Parts: sequence; C-alpha cells; structure tokens
Amino acid sequence: MEVKIPNHVAIILDGNGRWATEKGKKRKEGHYAGYKNLKKLSIYALKKGIKYLSVYAFSTENFNRSEEEVNYLMDLFISCFKKDTNFFNKRNVKVVFSGRKKPLRKDILDAMKEISATTKNNTGGVFNICLNYGGQAEIVDASKNIVKDVKNGKLDLNTLDEKTFYKYLYNNLPPIDFMIRTSGELRISNFMLYELSYAELYFPETYFPDFNEKEFDKALIEYTKRDRRFGKIKNAK
Ligand code: FPP
Repeated sequence: MEVKIPNHVAIILDGNGRWATEKGKKRKEGHYAGYKNLKKLSIYALKKGIKYLSVYAFSTENFNRSEEEVNYLMDLFISCFKKDTNFFNKRNVKVVFSGRKKPLRKDILDAMKEISATTKNNTGGVFNICLNYGGQAEIVDASKNIVKDVKNGKLDLNTLDEKTFYKYLYNNLPPIDFMIRTSGELRISNFMLYELSYAELYFPETYFPDFNEKEFDKALIEYTKRDRRFGKIKNAK
C-alpha cells in the first residue's frame, strides 16, 4: 500500500504530564521529553514530504496553570528557540508562530522573532508553533483585520469568502488534512478551528513523549485508509 502524505499535519502535544507522573518524574521532565521528541519528529515529518506541520505548544488557556509550570515552559521555549535556530536553519525548515503576542514576556517574543527571521527564506517545509494560541482568538483577530481592511479600502467585503478568509489567519496556512491528538483525549480544545474544518482526526492513546517515528508512520497508514469526501457523495450515479 502506498502511503498518502498529507499536505498539512497538526498535532496536539498531549500527555507530557501523565507520561512523567507514571514514571515517578516531575511534570517538567515530561515537557522536556516532549520537546526532545518534537524536535526529532518535526524533521522526520517534513522529510517525508509533509509541507506544513502545526503543533499546539501553549494555549491561551495554559496560562491558568501554576506559575511554576508556566515559567518552566516559557524558559524551555526560549532556550530551545535559541539553541535550535541553527538546527532548523541547516535543515531548510521555516519556523513560524501562531498566537497572540500579549501577555508573552519580551524575552520570549525576542527569541521567537530571532528564529523566524533567521529561517524565513527556507523552503524545506513550514513548522508552525502555536504559542499563546486560541482557535477562537485567531478567528476574532482575523475578523478585526478584515474590518480594518474594509474601512481603509483594501478589501471589498463582497469578495470575502471562505478561501480569502485564510489570508487573515495568523500565517495564511492551508487547510489541515490530518490532526493528531496524543494521549487518548477526544477533544479539539480550541485548536485551529477554522483550518480543521475538513481534517481527518486521529486520537492515539500514546503520550506525546512516546509518539515516535514508528507511531507517526502508523498514523500515516491510518490517514491513507480514510476516505475523504469533503461533503460529496462518492460514486454517485
Ligand atoms: C500538554 O500536555 C502539553 C503542553 C501544555 C506543553 C507542550 C509543549 C512541549 C511538548 C514542548 C514543545 C517545545 C517547543 C520548543 C515547541 P500536558 O502537560 O497537559 O499533559 P497531561 O494532560 O498529561 O498533564
């Protein structure tokens, strides 16, 4: 069977905390293990020919976690973006971010700016990191920019349709073909609501730190088996 390669894959990186707790480790160690796995997996996925990989690294709601956990994650993001700029650049990967800037700290905004500026001309796939991201917020922010463009004459409201709406989303990425949420949770949790409209959904039980290349290949086989109809009736007479 020839495996189908989706154009845009999205992953909700879930289960880091449970992975750690079950091993008698601290939640932080779970996040670090998740990061190590993500670094490897992102390259693996893009090398397979997936053009866009979006990951949910931190939701707007994640700010409700303990201060210690939020600070740990922010520090982890900063050190990773700094450390991994060369890693992604050498592999020709373009790193972009989706999410609101407020209330992110200046040091993290600087690290995000740096890695995206360095990799902006790369052509070997787009790695979209959703950080301080909310799907409803993305639609609200897009709508605000649409109103602005209508007011200043840049957009004729009559020409706005589902396709042109994408241009107003954070990175104008194409629709998601395949969405994976690890750890067995069966929810979307405010992730890329507009882009997920016709995505195939896959919910493996594996915690994200253990969702390795082999698991990813299994996921692609599952995707290959799906019959994507986009609302049409197949073989209609
Ligand atoms: C959800 O699992 C995971 C997060 C809120 C953080 C995900 C972040 C990473 C994997 C690091 C990514 C690193 C970079 C540089 C992008 P959870 O902690 O809610 O797990 P649980 O439900 O088992 O508690």
